[in-house]
Amino acid sequence: MYNEIDLDKIDIHAEPPIEEPVRQYYFMAKCHQWVKDFEQKNGRSPKACVVNMGCQMNARDSEKLQGILCRIGYAEMESEDADFVIYNTCTVRENANLKVYGRLGVLHGYKKKNPDMKIALCGCMMQEPSVVEKLKKSYRFIDLIFGTHNIFKFAELLWTALDSERMVIDIWKDTDQIVEDLPVERKYPFKSGVNIMFGCNNFCSYCIVPYVRGRERSRAPEDILQEIRNLVADGIVEIMLLGQNVNSYGKNLAVPMSFAELLKEIEKIEGLKRIRFMTSHPKDLSDELIQVMADSQKICRHLHLPLQSGSTTVLKAMNRKYTKEQYIRLAEKIRSAVPDIALTTDIIVGFPGETEADFQETLDVVRRVRYDSAFTFIYSRRTGTPAASMEDQIPEDVVKDRFERLLKEVQDISKNMAERFTGTDQEVLVEESNRQMKGYMTGRLSNNHVVHFPGDTSMIGKILRAHLDECRGFYYMGSLQQTQNI
Ligand code: SAH
Ligand code: SF4
Ligand code: F3S
Repeated sequence: MYNEIDLDKIDIHAEPPIEEPVRQYYFMAKCHQWVKDFEQKNGRSPKACVVNMGCQMNARDSEKLQGILCRIGYAEMESEDADFVIYNTCTVRENANLKVYGRLGVLHGYKKKNPDMKIALCGCMMQEPSVVEKLKKSYRFIDLIFGTHNIFKFAELLWTALDSERMVIDIWKDTDQIVEDLPVERKYPFKSGVNIMFGCNNFCSYCIVPYVRGRERSRAPEDILQEIRNLVADGIVEIMLLGQNVNSYGKNLAVPMSFAELLKEIEKIEGLKRIRFMTSHPKDLSDELIQVMADSQKICRHLHLPLQSGSTTVLKAMNRKYTKEQYIRLAEKIRSAVPDIALTTDIIVGFPGETEADFQETLDVVRRVRYDSAFTFIYSRRTGTPAASMEDQIPEDVVKDRFERLLKEVQDISKNMAERFTGTDQEVLVEESNRQMKGYMTGRLSNNHVVHFPGDTSMIGKILRAHLDECRGFYYMGSLQQTQNI
């Protein structure tokens, strides 16, 4: 119903309403009037550029920012040479932060040429007080700064920034609020992320996410199911359920519900064809969930199961709450219940105190589990986390050497694993035209592998059957067997 609200009919001279999300629609209306005045003065619409710098959860937040900007009347723009630029930042590793400071220099250049330009920063990095201090001191050209907990207030904050010349800063320490029914502008017409929970309670000792995203909060199942039904009515065939630890979904609801139960409800939605989710924490992955995956027609044959380290000693210091053996047993259980599943993971090398023997344990798990792919990270010291003050931080050259060895192992295994599907027929969701090969389309298999095949843009958003002719390491070349939507 909120999608149908006509901003022109809202009385912007009245007092702002108190309740959400009505209050935000009031501020959208105020910004919309500002846009109309801009158009009159300049003979064109103002342009906005939303830059996403973080994980899939941040990407979904960026779609919400974009949705509000579109409703207000901004034209979407890829280039940062726009009238309004917003960076949705990440702070999970130090280099994510450094990237932001580097790019701000370029933005300042644009602003000198276009003094009316407004620059905003939001997202996880803004939840760190030291970052905001630095921006206040040395980056005075920024117009608006807000954090993760009050992102639903974007329309109101944007209005405040448009209406003033000062630097507007609004950061909340935490929240228990979940505001529903704000506009969203989706990147793809056929697939979409869906938040099922926010925050994280796990406090892995290296990780900053619980500090910048706050405590775990699950959305009500009815809200999730209704959002998915609306998405399906709008043409979406694949959804990705998002949360830092989806396996602990529902624990804090008034009527508790498990993630497996939620999946069973989602499976019933007619017209929805594929269900993905991330991320799963191994400590909470239940037998019930494995069974639901095995029985499901819609849950994709892919599970991202972050290992972090293969050494039980390091896992303990990381506060991961599982051992090497428990992890391996879990992976075996999943592979035997769902034989064609692709397993992927995240691994950190160089955690404080990690010895060569610990590292060998990680390599051992990699060789035994045989991941279809793995994201490998060099440990990054995050101020405020317990690991940052641990003794025995590992020297850079030792970490680099381990990282190279791990990467090689992981890549050799992934190539080998991908070969097992060569020659099979698979369902593929066609996503886009191939940018390098003219006349080719690119699609995604249920197991998250990518395949390129001859085709045309009329196929985008359809699920077709393709033969995987050849494996080229991390992707396949294929040919369509059936051009009818499955
Ligand atoms: N909630 C997810 C992960 C979110 S962060 C989970 O628990 O799996 C994504 C990945 O970044 C993590 O899995 C971890 O491998 C990596 N990461 C987090 N903090 C890090 C740090 N301080 N240094 C290096 N990598 C880190
Ligand atoms: Fe970070 Fe651990 Fe939470 Fe994942 S589960 S977000 S790694 S604290
Ligand atoms: Fe980064 Fe925040 Fe996601 S720190 S990984 S964008 S939750």
